[in-house]
Amino acid sequence: MSKTAAPAARIAELRRRIDDANHRYHVLDDPSIPDVEYDRLMRELEALEAAHPELVDFDSPTQRVGNAPSAKFAEVTHAVPMLSLANAFTDEEVNEFVTRIGKETGDDSPVFSVEPKLDGLAISLRYENGVFVRGATRGDGTTGEDVTANLRTVKVIPLRLRGKALPEVLEVRGEVYMPRAEFEHYNIWALEHGEKTLANPRNGAAGSLRQLDPRVTAKRPLRFYAYALGEVTGAKLPATHSQTLAWLRELGLPVCPQVEVAKGVEGVLDYYARIGAQRDTLPYDIDGVVYKLDRYDQQRAMGFVSRAPRWALAHKFPAQEEMTTVESIEVNVGRTGAVTPWVLMTPVHVGGVTVTRATLHNADQIARLDVRVGDAVIVRRAGDVIPEVVRVIEERRPLDKRGKPLHPPYQLPTTCPVCGSAVEREEGEVVARCTGGLFCPAQRIQALFHFASRRAMDIEGMGERFITALVEFDYVHTVADLYKLTVGDLLEMKRRADERDGTTPETVKAGKVASKWAENLIAAIDASRNTTLERLLFALGIRDVGESTAKTLARHFGALDPLIAASEEELVAVPDVGPIVAARIAHFFAEQHNRDVIAALRANGVHWQEGAPRRASEGPLAGMTVVLTGGLASMSRDEAGAKLEALGAKVSGSVSKKTGIVVAGEAAGSKLAKAQELGLDIWDEDKLLAFLAEHGA
Ligand code: IVH
Repeated sequence: MSKTAAPAARIAELRRRIDDANHRYHVLDDPSIPDVEYDRLMRELEALEAAHPELVDFDSPTQRVGNAPSAKFAEVTHAVPMLSLANAFTDEEVNEFVTRIGKETGDDSPVFSVEPKLDGLAISLRYENGVFVRGATRGDGTTGEDVTANLRTVKVIPLRLRGKALPEVLEVRGEVYMPRAEFEHYNIWALEHGEKTLANPRNGAAGSLRQLDPRVTAKRPLRFYAYALGEVTGAKLPATHSQTLAWLRELGLPVCPQVEVAKGVEGVLDYYARIGAQRDTLPYDIDGVVYKLDRYDQQRAMGFVSRAPRWALAHKFPAQEEMTTVESIEVNVGRTGAVTPWVLMTPVHVGGVTVTRATLHNADQIARLDVRVGDAVIVRRAGDVIPEVVRVIEERRPLDKRGKPLHPPYQLPTTCPVCGSAVEREEGEVVARCTGGLFCPAQRIQALFHFASRRAMDIEGMGERFITALVEFDYVHTVADLYKLTVGDLLEMKRRADERDGTTPETVKAGKVASKWAENLIAAIDASRNTTLERLLFALGIRDVGESTAKTLARHFGALDPLIAASEEELVAVPDVGPIVAARIAHFFAEQHNRDVIAALRANGVHWQEGAPRRASEGPLAGMTVVLTGGLASMSRDEAGAKLEALGAKVSGSVSKKTGIVVAGEAAGSKLAKAQELGLDIWDEDKLLAFLAEHGA
């Protein structure tokens, strides 16, 4: 199979196998594959999706929040939702967090409870009159799984609280984890006894808790640390989180001994540095530290955003590096034909996950690193980003009998592994590209994916499996063909895909589901016919024409035909369009087949409103850069931005000396502060509304 259809097809296959395994395990209670194999598939899918973010689909098994409650564990609705934490990776973000708290509480050196961020599984324990009655996983934060029987086997979790004045109800939240040493001992034991080994301590903890047989859980070395409260009745809470933790300790609950209190930015960053230095010697895995505003009255003042408190922050540790071996070097072909090399490696644990693939970015990077098959390499995984190869350990390079490297330096393929077209690299460009254009199925799939995406034509439900099938079964050559599809075509295609994959049973119910799916999809495609010029321009996928350039072009020309007719000189006159982008746009429209696609889109009913050209040099805000910050009561920031742009303004995301006006809404933060510092013109919402009204926007 070809190299780039490979990731898309492999992803589709992995999703099918994982969904199938989930169904067998949870619904039929008849596991089809061992846990480690499941984990391996999942990891492969995660790594593939990380290497190909454009192929991530919302319905992929990797996209579930927590785990859907299984059929076998009862569901538990958390009386108080289990929240997640906002993340920070830099000192600057931490600084902003503390500054924001200072501003909103008036306390400019606030006290924090600072804690290791344990890498396990969040759970909630419910005690009624001191007796452990129920334990649940976090699940999706609102509903989790009842794992009481399993938690009763975790020896550090008290079945009865200590002391006299016990609350009527006490829900304690915390992390179930597996100490690193215990994890290793367990795996040695498992190997000797022919039992399954665990992939890593985190998976070990999570997998152990979700065992249907508590006797299995009982054999696993699980621990627990408490770090938060849920529902509490019949008790007077202390005034601070740190006092609560002390109280929980008195009640007999384990609290992580590395928890401290720290004051201000200096205090928390000092803690971060100290824990970071101890990281490898701590008995448990952590992936960062957590800062929680200590005083409850201050926590209340800060409140929440969506599902995370504004009074807490997870400060993640940076990149982690590991050593592994390159098994092969592959390439992927993207939407614009970019040929991106990546390496397939011997699986390795980096920062708690197993990685098998790492990106090499481009041919320059390969040449710089001189990565070859068989090389020992250092891979790095920073936060949740795509793993990358940092360097080659040259002294470990495999040699032949004469002491010469076994493998020659890697060369990018000269022909596209997907369509066979020539791969070329333009002068001064780092990226090599397949010249096949839309002839290349890999590029066609990516072009369709981009065309349908939310910020382009916004066709809901155009998943990656569907698009791949459209191209593979030849239903769609150009994006315009989408608008000729019928419900019948989709059903026929689905039948062919299912037949080939040997997946779906021919039941009446399945037939109905399929019809509904096809009808919805056709309706979504139909709805996208009514679009805007800027969406269409972005959707066409002209190289280097992103959303913002598409918007500028739409505004500048007002209509498509004048843009198509524009010369490079006319295009360079458009703000933010330089000579390279101008050339790309002109070349795109000069290609007959691109003009044919546009004609076909129009013929198939795709339409948008056209208007008079609006040059940036016109309008009351012409040449003015405006930054919007904070929340507006009367409209969204996007809407306000569009109105300001209609008046000639350029809307930017960051404040600098060049900014003309800063519109500061509710709870504006660091951008407002910076604007004040720079002495910029600052408008409140009333002033904005008055200005818009005056200019009829
Ligand atoms: S507090 C209201 N404290 O991080 C805040 N969470 O991203 C609720 N975690 O699901 C969480 N160590 O699994 C808190 N010391 C700690 C933690 C911690 C690890 C995990 C927990 C949670 C996730 C949030």
